[in-house]
Amino acid sequence: MDTLQAIHDRRSIRHFASQPVPRELVERVLEATVQSPSAKNVQPWRFVVLEGQEKERLVRLMTAKGEALAAAGEGTGSLLGTCRAMAQAPVAVVILNQAPPAEVPPEFHEDWHFVMLQSTGGAIQTMLLAAHALGLGSLWICDILFAHDEVMVWLGCEGEVLVAAVSLGYADEAPGQRPRKGWAEVTQWLGAPSSQRSPSEA
Ligand SMILES: Cc1cc2nc3c(=O)[nH]c(=O)nc-3n(C[C@H](O)[C@H](O)[C@H](O)COP(=O)(O)O)c2cc1C
Repeated sequence: MDTLQAIHDRRSIRHFASQPVPRELVERVLEATVQSPSAKNVQPWRFVVLEGQEKERLVRLMTAKGEALAAAGEGTGSLLGTCRAMAQAPVAVVILNQAPPAEVPPEFHEDWHFVMLQSTGGAIQTMLLAAHALGLGSLWICDILFAHDEVMVWLGCEGEVLVAAVSLGYADEAPGQRPRKGWAEVTQWLGAPSSQRSPSEA
């Protein structure tokens, strides 16, 4: 699939078919994901692939958290809707970052955490595009952070950084493009290519 076409055609999928995803396909998605760039090539990411009962357990844990928050009158945003989408998708990938070192090495910016999160954010986008190119639907999920403590204890990942989850499965919907700001609206352009500069500017 053409890269630009994949970028334009990818959609967040919230309705998945029950058809299982072959493990080999998930491995190909992960193989593409780890090709992502990262600051100083640290590759700070780690992935926990959940299928079957383990995926259902994650959804139960997140749903229980959403219900508890709602019962306490606290906001849950899109959490319960996200849980319904996750329940349909056969695969959930939990994405973690390695813990920041006690002392940040001198070659790194002191805001290590921020830099490493950028690296993993890029990897997640690679994951979504790879899934799309391989015929899979996906959903990037930060609502997992509502259940941060519960997820970390359950997975035994305390000390690492919970970044997000991604649902993977065969799409059972074909959403149209969601609205986007035009690139010109969000872009400031300074200067001109050297070929267009007047001799006095050169
Ligand atoms: C960082 C991030 C977190 C997101 N978290 C969720 C989520 O928890 N639940 C959900 O349904 N969608 C989530 N999304 C999907 C966005 O809602 C979606 O990308 C956006 O509405 C644009 O739609 P599109 O992906 O189809 O272009 C998330 C997307 C990003 C980039």
